[in-house]
Amino acid sequence: MTDFETLRDEINQLRSDKNAVILAHNYERPEIQDISDYLGDSLGLSRQAAATDADVIVFCGVHFMAETASITSPDKTVLIPDLNAGCSLAESITVDELKNWKAEHPDATVVTYINTSAAIKAECDYCVTSSNAVKVIESIPEDEPILFLPDKFLGTYVEMMTGRKLHIWPGACHVHEKIGDMNLAEKQESYPNAEMLIHPECGCSTACMMNSAMNFDCASAHIHSTSGMLTRAEQSEADEFVVATETGILHQLRQRNPGKTFHAADDNSVCEYMKMTTLPKLRDALKHTQFQIRVDPELAAAARQPIDRMLAVG
Ligand code: 13P
Ligand code: SF4
Repeated sequence: MTDFETLRDEINQLRSDKNAVILAHNYERPEIQDISDYLGDSLGLSRQAAATDADVIVFCGVHFMAETASITSPDKTVLIPDLNAGCSLAESITVDELKNWKAEHPDATVVTYINTSAAIKAECDYCVTSSNAVKVIESIPEDEPILFLPDKFLGTYVEMMTGRKLHIWPGACHVHEKIGDMNLAEKQESYPNAEMLIHPECGCSTACMMNSAMNFDCASAHIHSTSGMLTRAEQSEADEFVVATETGILHQLRQRNPGKTFHAADDNSVCEYMKMTTLPKLRDALKHTQFQIRVDPELAAAARQPIDRMLAVG
């Protein structure tokens, strides 16, 4: 038996002994994706975490995702295999900054992308993910001013899709903000027949939505969350795609569509936080029940409200 097979068997045995479920985000390493019980985008993972019967949830993703699971399932043991798996976007606003911003707009409804800490969520009215942000904003009465945080590209995308003017926090993800016009222009030249799949956190999504892309043609562009990209690739007539998001998604795109070809818009679009989870760390998480994510009950109760409102909308 190879080391890899031994490790995989150990994980499978521990998962069953501990009645654990392994949830993994679409950006995780291929071997983590392949061993997970459920693989998905932020919305799908939140739903799974809230609905599971397992005693233990091992979250192969980043810290805010495990924290969200702990908030929606306070009676479960929630584990993250590496405590350093953070998120640059979640770091782009502090609680003090949010409180000051709210004080400037006392009548505003506050909407946060799910990529934030529990302490930020506790200050907000609604949570959104990239797959339901438009729907959630549309559910808010039109005359209510809205503060949208922390991602400026997703905020602009939602503004364009809903036709609503939002107050948008100028935060960004360090991986997605670098995927710009020029990346797509280069790939379009190399693969002129490819369809473009763009995540709304990308810098290029704004240029595309505003029809102000200087260097590439947006006519074949589709803007989606990671799971939305998987659905689009399966349904599209195209057989070649350029994918503008973290490169981890390519594993599933290729697995599910063996007859189609996928190119990264930028091969350097790698989130080092998502890649921190490895099979040995996953095995250790199950074996030693580490590292437990617990949210203070009072904070969790406050942070749960915007998450529940989001889940109720869609
Ligand atoms: P989705 O999987 O919801 O599209 O989110 C992307 C992301 O960056 C998660 O951190
Ligand atoms: Fe955060 Fe960006 Fe990594 Fe997603 S890809 S977890 S938004 S740093």
